[in-house]
Amino acid sequence: MQKLEVFGANKLKGQIKISGSKNASLPILAATLLSRKKVYLKNLPRVRDIETMVSLLQSLGSKINFNKNNLTIDNKKQNKNFASYSLVKTMRAGILVLGPLLAKFGRAKVSLPGGCAIGTRPVDIHLDALSKLGVKYKIIQGYVHAKAPKGLIGGKIKFSKISVGATENLIIAASFAKGTTVLSNCAIEPEIKDLVNFLKSMGCNIKWISKRSVKIEGVSEVNEITYPVMFDRIEAGTYLVAAAVTEGNLKIKNIIPKIIQTEINTLKKIGAKIRVKKDEIHIVGNKKIKSINIKTAPYPGFPTDLQAQIMVLLCKANKQSLIKEDIFENRFMHVAELNRMGAKILTNGNKAKVSGNIRFEAAELMATDLRASVSLILAALTAKGKSVINRIYHLDRGYENIEKKLKKVGAKIRRVN
Ligand code: UD1
Repeated sequence: MQKLEVFGANKLKGQIKISGSKNASLPILAATLLSRKKVYLKNLPRVRDIETMVSLLQSLGSKINFNKNNLTIDNKKQNKNFASYSLVKTMRAGILVLGPLLAKFGRAKVSLPGGCAIGTRPVDIHLDALSKLGVKYKIIQGYVHAKAPKGLIGGKIKFSKISVGATENLIIAASFAKGTTVLSNCAIEPEIKDLVNFLKSMGCNIKWISKRSVKIEGVSEVNEITYPVMFDRIEAGTYLVAAAVTEGNLKIKNIIPKIIQTEINTLKKIGAKIRVKKDEIHIVGNKKIKSINIKTAPYPGFPTDLQAQIMVLLCKANKQSLIKEDIFENRFMHVAELNRMGAKILTNGNKAKVSGNIRFEAAELMATDLRASVSLILAALTAKGKSVINRIYHLDRGYENIEKKLKKVGAKIRRVN
C-alpha cells in the first residue's frame, strides 16, 4: 500500500495552480445522463472519485473519452438504469445518478452508498424529495428500487434540512420532469450554482427565485454543449492553510476569490497577510497566529471540508480555539493522529478545544478520510524530521497531483510503496 513521506519543516514559496472542482464535476457528470447529445467537459480533476463516476457512467452505457482534464461523453445509446454496489460503495456521490436515471427511464435500481467514516450520511432527504415528484421506491437488499409510473411530475418541495447532494439530485431530476418544480431550503454551495449553470447552458429552464429557492420548468430535450468546470475551492483553501501554517509565501492561481470570501476572512482574522486579485490570492503566513472560534455551516458558512485543515493551523495559535462541527457527527478522526504529533485537542461530541502554541513532531500516521489525510500532511510539513502517512488512497480520491504541487513550492514529500 502506498504511503507518503514528508520531511519538515520548510516554508512553502511559489505558485500553485488550482484544479477543477471534484464536487462540481461529480453532479455535472451525473447530469450528463439527461442528454442524448454530446457533452464536452473541461477542467475535470484527475482524481479517483472522478474516475469512479466515469466507470459508473460507463457501466450505465455512456461512451466516454477522457483525455487529460477534458472529457467527451456520448449518451446517444446510454440504455442501462442499474448502478451496482461495487461502484457506488466507495463514493457517496454515486447516488446522484438516481435522479437523472428516473427522469430518463422512469425506473432505476441504484445501490445505497456504502458506510462512510465521517458519519452515517443517509439518503432519506433525496428519497423523500423524489417521492414528491411521483417516485415510488422500496429498499431491497441494499438497493433503492425506484419507479415513476407516470414519469416525474413537477411539485413543490421544501427540504427538511440543507443537503448538497439532495439539492443536486432534485435539480437534475426536476429539469426533465413534467411541469414546474419549486425547491426551497436548497443548499447553495458554489458547486450547485455550477451545476445549474451547466444545465442552463444545455437548455434546461432553471431560475433562482430567492436565496435558497429555485424554480425549474421541465424540458424533454437538451443541446450539445462544451462546459468548463469551476475551480476546486476546497483545494484552494487547503493550500491557503498550507501557506499560513508553514509561514510561507504562496500565490494561489486559477480561482475566483469572491467564492471563498469566508475562508479569506477567517485566515485574515487568524493573522495571515492576504492580497486578492481578480483570479488569484497572494498569501504570506505570519509567525504569530491568533486563536479564533469556528463553526462549520452550509455555504456561505465555513466549509466542513476545511475543518481538519484549519484545525492544524489553530494548533499554532497564541491561545485556545474552539471548533464546532455542525455538518457531520463524526468528523474529528484526524484529532487522534494530530494529538500523536503533539497537538492538544480535546473533543466532546461535535466540539473541539484546540490548544495553541503547539510544535508538531514528526510521526508515523494513518489517514482516515479525504480531508483528514490532507490535515496530516499540513501538520507534517511543519514538523522537523520524517513523517510517514499511511492509507493515502483517501487522499487520491480528491487532490490532483498533490505531491507534485507541494514539491514545486519547496515541500519535501514523496510517495513510496
Ligand atoms: C457534499 C460534499 C462533501 C461535503 C458536504 C457538506 C460532494 C460530492 N460532497 O456531501 O464533500 O462535506 O456536501 O458540505 O459534493 N443528510 C441526511 N440525509 C440525506 C442527506 C444528507 O441526513 O438524505 C445529512 C448528512 O448526513 C450530513 C448533512 O445532511 O450530516 C449534510 O450532508 P450533504 O449536504 O447531503 O452532504 P453530501 O452531499 O453527502
